[in-house]
Amino acid sequence: MKENLKFEINYIAYKSSDELPENYKLLVDAAKKATNDSYAPYSNFNVGAALFLNDGQIILGSNQENASYPIGFCAERTALSAAASIASHTKIKAIAITAKSLKNPVLTPAAPCGICRQTIFEAECKHHQNIEIILTGESGAVYIFKSIKDLLPLHFDADFL
Ligand code: THU
Repeated sequence: MKENLKFEINYIAYKSSDELPENYKLLVDAAKKATNDSYAPYSNFNVGAALFLNDGQIILGSNQENASYPIGFCAERTALSAAASIASHTKIKAIAITAKSLKNPVLTPAAPCGICRQTIFEAECKHHQNIEIILTGESGAVYIFKSIKDLLPLHFDADFL
């Protein structure tokens, strides 16, 4: 028997970060600040990520490239590694992700790559807590998802291991 099924994803969209509630705005601003520490001489695409932990700490990460392209780190995984190193038992409530580029201004919400989606998912599994995903570009819309599962609907569930 064949069925046509569909996934439905619910998310919130704000027209601009100016409309965000204060706590979200704070985290988006932190992610924007993190783009200044990005090392991206090869792509000129500066990504910033900011984690908001359950205890109120904000942890930043940015993409760190390398002449050996594949070993470059994405901003999201840099931030998650920092959190796992300095606050490994503290759960993560939210991650804000943004990007800027001098060549092509980023005017739509920056979306995490597949590897980072899987890594954020793993952090949700580790802490048994959803991580809110807040995406934005240099300007323009901000999207908020309740969990990385919304961006990774057919996930490999680490709880089965
Ligand atoms: N990048 C991130 O930091 N996060 C993502 O989710 C997508 C891509 C980085 C990798 C590389 O340094 C640059 O953006 C261009 O792809």
